Amino acid sequence: MIQAAEINRAALEAIEPLIRPGVTTAELNAVAERAILVRGGTPAFKGYRGFPAAICTSRNEVVVHGIPDLRPLEPGDIVAIDIGTFYQGYAADMAKTYAVGAISPAARRLMKVTEAALYAGIAAAQAGNRLGDVSAAIQMVVEKAGFWVVREFVGHGIGREFHESPEVPNFGRVGTGPVLRPGLVLAIEPMVTERRTSVSILEDGWTAPTADGSLAAHFEHTVAITSDGPQILTAPGSPLAHRIVVQGGAHGA
Ligand code: MF3
Ligand code: CO
Repeated sequence: MIQAAEINRAALEAIEPLIRPGVTTAELNAVAERAILVRGGTPAFKGYRGFPAAICTSRNEVVVHGIPDLRPLEPGDIVAIDIGTFYQGYAADMAKTYAVGAISPAARRLMKVTEAALYAGIAAAQAGNRLGDVSAAIQMVVEKAGFWVVREFVGHGIGREFHESPEVPNFGRVGTGPVLRPGLVLAIEPMVTERRTSVSILEDGWTAPTADGSLAAHFEHTVAITSDGPQILTAPGSPLAHRIVVQGGAHGA
């Protein structure tokens, strides 16, 4: 999973410099897919329940699962890129929201708060804590900032499949839910809207926009619960990744 996550992160980084006005999300998808394949991975999303691309590109009021297309990005857009990789039978999943050119202060704040909520959730992902502690930490950051946590989509366990139990809601109560144990890996992924609203799904079966047109942001990491605290597998250079590389083949399983 560390290696899957490393490939996944590198593929997202490969398209980051291309995210600017004029680029199409289809172009971003093509580059991301090649970046996964060239590193020996497989795009996890492509073909999943018929999803047609390697990445989801969710612009502005689209919360998640936007399908890459031929419309160029425009200055002032925000676009969430969600990417998943399989490598040697294991999955990784991550997402980030990017500014396209200059964006409004409101959009900037929405992105900042959503990312801060992700990191608050990760900080609560300690062995011995409960899943509700993660959910509540995310919700607290979002609601203190006056934004709304999306209820229609949640994070998830991840491993051999990219959607495994448990579901990881971005709302919940401290002290509830299953105890987190070392070895559990979670895809923690707050989806946040400017205002309290619902999310629908377009006729393409995927694109999920807000009902009221509120802007939405989405950040996601694949996070391992360990006795040394949460390890963000989709971030560069985690201590866990270092240790595994150093140990090399000593642990055959
Ligand atoms: N991170 C998203 C999720 O966990 C990505 C899924 S896109 C899909 O649901 F197309 F593969 F469904
Ligand atoms: Co996910």
